Formats: sequence, structure tokens, C-alpha cells
Amino acid sequence: MHIDERLSASLDKRIAEKTFRSLTLKSGLIDFSSNDYLGFARSAELEKLVSELEIVNVKHSTQVGSTGSRLLSGNTAFAEELENFIAHYHHAEAALLFNSGYNANLGLFSALGRKGDTIIYDELIHASVHDGMRLSKAEYKPFAHNNTVQLEQLLKETTGQVFVAVESVYSMDGDFAPLKEIAALCKKYKASLIVDEAHATGIFGEKGKGLVTELGLEKDVFARLITYGKAMGCHGAAVVGSTLLKNYLTNFARSFIYTTAAPLHNLYAIKSAYDLLEKSGNRIDSLNSIIRFFRSRIKTIGEINLHESSSPVQSIIIPGNEKVRKAAAQIQEKGFDVRPLVSPTVPAGQERIRICLHAFNTEKEVDDLVSAIQTSL
Ligand SMILES: Cc1ncc(COP(=O)(O)O)c(C=O)c1O
Repeated sequence: MHIDERLSASLDKRIAEKTFRSLTLKSGLIDFSSNDYLGFARSAELEKLVSELEIVNVKHSTQVGSTGSRLLSGNTAFAEELENFIAHYHHAEAALLFNSGYNANLGLFSALGRKGDTIIYDELIHASVHDGMRLSKAEYKPFAHNNTVQLEQLLKETTGQVFVAVESVYSMDGDFAPLKEIAALCKKYKASLIVDEAHATGIFGEKGKGLVTELGLEKDVFARLITYGKAMGCHGAAVVGSTLLKNYLTNFARSFIYTTAAPLHNLYAIKSAYDLLEKSGNRIDSLNSIIRFFRSRIKTIGEINLHESSSPVQSIIIPGNEKVRKAAAQIQEKGFDVRPLVSPTVPAGQERIRICLHAFNTEKEVDDLVSAIQTSL
């Protein structure tokens, strides 16, 4: 078969199954879908902080690009200072920057999982962890979402080095992992716990430090993923943990070693986002209040399958790809950017409209969104 025929056949199958993806530009709609939970990505204040940092650091800023990987020509004093700052901020010994959360999970899981090891993961874990596990030499086994009874059963049965992978706030359902219980189980069975804080960073814990610090579990967690592309409004990620882990990843995480380092501008953006976060208590309060407001309003529309969540991610379950797509399209036509999540991205029967709430969404916008949802179901 000619390669073009093969590619077309795969795409045709997606079209037939109504799972074809394409890039779209949606302008003028009210944002109920981006991960910019605190509005940092559109913040003039953040832009100003980045520019000021650039001016202060002008002596380092002679390059647009970083010129190489961190291990070759791409390292800077600023990157090292930033890593020390990140570690301190999240109450960890060390931090290592990666170019994205995807790259961080890829590097972390592929480097850690050796032959004879087992990675036990929540069934709703992010795709980047799946890809990291696939690249590792370890075995990997799922447990039902947030089901600590199943997790314990697997921990009991498993021998050798064991890692447990969870998200603190789940990206699809917006619910929390029972982290205290999971950490206690990991301690009991001597497993190393890895917590992806992508959707908690910037929002949960004191000054957005994450759920692990909120619960005081820093010492019980082997590695945490902090990302900068969501509430922090910029791009990139860091793995925080021990100095030993940092040194190990610097030597064995291929997605850290074999890639060009982020340019200084990115690093200034990350540092500036932290500086803004330190004084963003009011934004976090606004976000929490709009979440409460949305939940109180949406519950008034009667028969609705709303996922339990007190995070910015709110899901209305509408089983069936066709049905959920149609409802989302109708809500979009009324001026709201919401996205349908269809199977196989979510399990069949769990198709949903995923609504992301933001500190900048107003009560009027939420009221209008709820009316649009009511007339579209
Ligand atoms: C739970 C989780 N982990 C990791 C990632 C990847 O992070 P990034 O977007 O920085 O690559 C995402 C983003 O979609 C995520 O939701």
C-alpha cells in the first residue's frame, strides 16, 4: 500500500468514527475552556513583570535562543537560580526544569521504571504518564479511579520496586486524589509516590504551591510534577523532589538530555508568574467564588449529571459522542467556548462537556452559560 493511502485510510476511519481532530480558531467566544485559570496568560501585569526581569537581566539576554541542551551550551545561572527558587517554593530539596509537562512525565517515568519494577497508576492518569511508562522497562498496572482498596490490593500483590502514579487534581474529572490515604499506603508498602500537580499548581495550597504542600505530604512524595502552562499562564514544567532524583534525571531522563533548553525569555516568564502568584490571593479567591457560583446555578436546572468537583474543571456527562458534540456546538453558537470530550479520550458512556472556570469569568457570564446549557441539553 502506498504510504499516502495508508495515512488516508487511518484518517478516513477517524472521520467515519467521528473522532477526526483538526485545529480550529475560535474567536470572540467567552472562555470556558482554556487552562488559564487565573488569567495569567492574558495578564498585562505578568507581561510587565517579564519585561522588567528581562531588563534587569540584560547581561544574560544576548541570545534569543538557548543555543543547546542544558548539559551542553544551554545552561544559564538564571536557570539554576530558578530551579533553586522552585524547589524552595514547593518545599522540596531540588527542582529540574523540563520544556513541558509532557516532556517531564516522559523523562521521569521512562528513566525510573526498570525491568522488574512496577508502576501502579490511576486509570485516569494523563497520556504523558502513559507514554513515559511505555518507554520504561517496567510493568504497569491500573487501579480504578481513586479506588484505594484496589490500589492496596495491587500493592500487596506486587514485588520489587513499586511506583504509584496519581494526579492531585484530575484533568478530566476535576476531582482530587485521596492523597493522604494514598501516601499512607505507599509508606506501608514501601512504594514511591509520584504526584502530577499540573491542575493544582497555582491554585491549590498556600500561594498555589499545590495539594501536596497543602496536606503537608512533601516528605511522603517521591516526585511531583509542577507545570507552567495552566494556571501559571506560561509554558514549561519542573519535577521537584530530592537532589538525588534531580541528579538521576539529569543523567537518565532522555527528554531532558536530548533537547534544546528553553530560552531565557521562557524562564523569565516562569519566575515572573511566581512573583505574580505571591500577590494573587484575590485571583484565587475570585476563582473559588466563581466555582461555587457555577455549581449553585447549574444545580438549579434539574436533571443534570454533574461530576463532583470543587476545582475549576467541571464536567457535565452527556453519554454518546454525537449527543455531546451536538450540545457543545449549540452552546458554542450562543457565544461560549466549551468543548466536548468524546470517547475514546474518555470512556464510552462518560462523554462530557468540560467547562473550565476562570478567575476572570463574571457571574453574568456564568448565568448566561447556564441558560445556554439548559436550552442545549
Ligand atoms: C495532568 C497533566 N499532566 C501533564 C500535562 C502536560 O503538561 P504540558 O501541557 O505542560 O505538556 C497535562 C496537560 O495537558 C496534564 O493535564
